[in-house]
Amino acid sequence: MSLFNTQDRIIITCSNRLSPYLKMETEEMGYIPVRVFKTGVELKGSLKDCIRLNLNLRCASQVLFSLKEFHADHADELYKVLVEYPWEDILALNGYFSVSSNVDTPAINNELFANVKVKDAIVDRFRNRTGERPNSGPETDKAVIHLYWKGSLAVIFIDTSGDTLSKHGYRKIPGKAPMLESLAAAVLLANQWDRRSPFINPMCGSGTLAIEAALLATNRKPGLLRMNYAFMHLIGYEEAFYLAEYKRLEQQVHEVPGLTLIATDINEDMVNISKVNAGIAGVEELIEFTTCDFEETPVPERAGVVIFNPEYGDRLGVEAELELTYKRIGDFMKKKCKGYTGYIFTGNLELAKKIGLKPSRRIEFYTSKIDCRLLEYELYSGTKRVEKRVDT
Ligand SMILES: C[S@@+](CC[C@H](N)C(=O)[O-])C[C@H]1O[C@@H](n2cnc3c(N)ncnc32)[C@H](O)[C@@H]1O
Repeated sequence: MSLFNTQDRIIITCSNRLSPYLKMETEEMGYIPVRVFKTGVELKGSLKDCIRLNLNLRCASQVLFSLKEFHADHADELYKVLVEYPWEDILALNGYFSVSSNVDTPAINNELFANVKVKDAIVDRFRNRTGERPNSGPETDKAVIHLYWKGSLAVIFIDTSGDTLSKHGYRKIPGKAPMLESLAAAVLLANQWDRRSPFINPMCGSGTLAIEAALLATNRKPGLLRMNYAFMHLIGYEEAFYLAEYKRLEQQVHEVPGLTLIATDINEDMVNISKVNAGIAGVEELIEFTTCDFEETPVPERAGVVIFNPEYGDRLGVEAELELTYKRIGDFMKKKCKGYTGYIFTGNLELAKKIGLKPSRRIEFYTSKIDCRLLEYELYSGTKRVEKRVDT
């Protein structure tokens, strides 16, 4: 039976702390996760399910399909098991594959050595049977085999994604300190935005949050923007199944009458970059872009969500300037965004105290090895207004 219809373990990996949102996404698709860990979610399914997951998930990095689990205390043991595996049922003789790994075992001290052992086993299996072998190398845009080896437990997977899913394909120009697209999507899933009311993103940089907001509100899934996945390079892949899934994504897109998405930045270059990125994502028409200081950002009367991702600063001197910026952000939210839910995404909790409002929630995230928070503020209107500045 083709692996495309065989049920086995699927591990979906993600960036640190995104797994609660990845779990949410898989559940919305009708899957029941059997395990959730810091950097991923496990569920059961076939390679066809992997195709669906690749096309739909906003918060994922890779979708891995388990082929075999075994004990290996030595690199030679790993080789012996893998040279017996029927790779000719999965990889095309005239194709190309690469090997990636996540290795933490006393058996070897070099991850690349593990990759070479896996590659040798696959190549030798083909050579022994046919006298020929598929090409292999570092590119991840064709078939990819992944080794997880922890202690003496080895698991060999097909990486059905290849190039990471954490990039959503529209950000051709990144700008400075851009947010990873999967992280931006998770930040939106973590907040209270109802996907209909105004979404305001001052300091938009390359536009990631506003673009992800437009994609989420109109149910445009990442698969609409990506045309190549590793699963397409496996034996047994049926293009008709993929095309039907793709069509389903197209049919699920819906417009939201009166949707107001506003993105501004003080830097005109950043606003132009955001427009280009939004154009590639197919949502430029949905976002009102303006070049201005964040204080001049238009805020519609109908309340919604206002979200900032200011710079965090890592040098003395710059910090003092940023303290003032964070204080001004607090004042802006307090005075101009009454009735809204405000959010600040930052990796500098000392600077966040300068906002001067008490967060109603602190949601933990992680980016480039920095502990980050999404801080939520209820910006009450009328008598409930939060007037008093407090330290967070
Ligand atoms: C950390 S970046 C935002 C990155 C963004 N989330 C992305 O994914 O590209 C911060 C942005 O704030 C902008 N900025 C700094 N000071 C500003 C101000 N006073 N008013 C408006 N924008 C400002 C910068 O130009 C920069 O693009």
